[in-house]
Amino acid sequence: MDRPDRMILTAGPSITKLEEGYVLDAVRHGWNWHWSDYLERFEKKLAEYLGVKHVLPVSHGTGALHLAMLALNIGPGDEVIIPDTTYIACANVVKYVGATPVFADVDRATWCLDPDSVERNITRRTRAILPVWMYGNAPDMDGIMEIAQRHGLFVVEDSCPALGTIYKGKKAGAIGDIGVFSFQGAKIAVMGEGGAFITNSDEFYERAQLLCKGGMDPSRQFWVKDVGYMYKLSNLQAALALAQIERIEELVARKRQIFGWYQEQLSGISAISINREPHGVRSNMWMSSVVLAEDVPASRDWFRTELKNRLIDTRPFFFPITMFPIYSNPRASGLNPNSYFVGLQGVNLPSGVERTKEEIDYIGRQIRELLKA
Ligand SMILES: Cc1ncc(COP(=O)(O)O)c(C=O)c1O
Repeated sequence: MDRPDRMILTAGPSITKLEEGYVLDAVRHGWNWHWSDYLERFEKKLAEYLGVKHVLPVSHGTGALHLAMLALNIGPGDEVIIPDTTYIACANVVKYVGATPVFADVDRATWCLDPDSVERNITRRTRAILPVWMYGNAPDMDGIMEIAQRHGLFVVEDSCPALGTIYKGKKAGAIGDIGVFSFQGAKIAVMGEGGAFITNSDEFYERAQLLCKGGMDPSRQFWVKDVGYMYKLSNLQAALALAQIERIEELVARKRQIFGWYQEQLSGISAISINREPHGVRSNMWMSSVVLAEDVPASRDWFRTELKNRLIDTRPFFFPITMFPIYSNPRASGLNPNSYFVGLQGVNLPSGVERTKEEIDYIGRQIRELLKA
């Protein structure tokens, strides 16, 4: 393929007759006696797929993370350890409940929370660890769970981007006390905006369920028990998500195929590293990505601009959160060098499930040319 005729985008869903059929059915019939049919099917299907007891459908991954903090009763005086490079919601939800986010470093190869750095950041105020499944990659969950057990801490998995990733036989999100997912439009499975809170704990589920719908008692109509929020999901969105979850293994296979094409194109280029899949992990490869090596003279901005000129859309990795004035810590770049390295050198490549081999081959050739590899 020569130059494409329009921008090759980083993300984008696969919508088939199945999704169209469910959504149309929900629009036509999903009211009155049937107002929650798709919500119930979505809950059941996702719980079955993940092998967990409870699924609470919510409006966003961010809402699910906030509910996790509330369900664990985390509040003022508490600390939650999160990776320094991740989506901003991880830090914000800790703030929402009046607690303090503590920023630990990530592993340079997986881009996920590093257990050694977690251990170094534990204080007597620490209540929870929040590992993030960056771009579908798996954190060292054995290491993190062992530390959590030894120190009596909760684990909230931000598995928002990792539906379908498997770590040593367990699904992402189903390992810690609570897991959360996002179904925002760029994710592997979409519903426009949306999320899910998952847990095996009756207590955490019931608390999140109450706070998700205005603090209203699920067993007594309009009886309010607490100051709640409005994070509930609509039946219409659940219809779309149900179809996507029914196809999740197909979507994972496509993402992995795209990553395989990149691997063929990009392997052996010393100026970059790509997603690493540790032994025992099946990543969903949500975002095929490259991290520019330290000694590459090209800047990330230059690299992204050049790709854009060649009609290749990219996304920068999440900046280290401690760079932002609202969470600033001038010592963090020294304390969390890997977060500053991958956060400032990483680039997500076009990875939408509809990408073709011809497009990936084109992108691979452009990267080789730019990096003179
Ligand atoms: C790692 C991570 N956490 C949380 C979120 C928040 O999800 P949402 O956009 O559904 O609120 C996202 C989504 O972009 C994410 O990538």
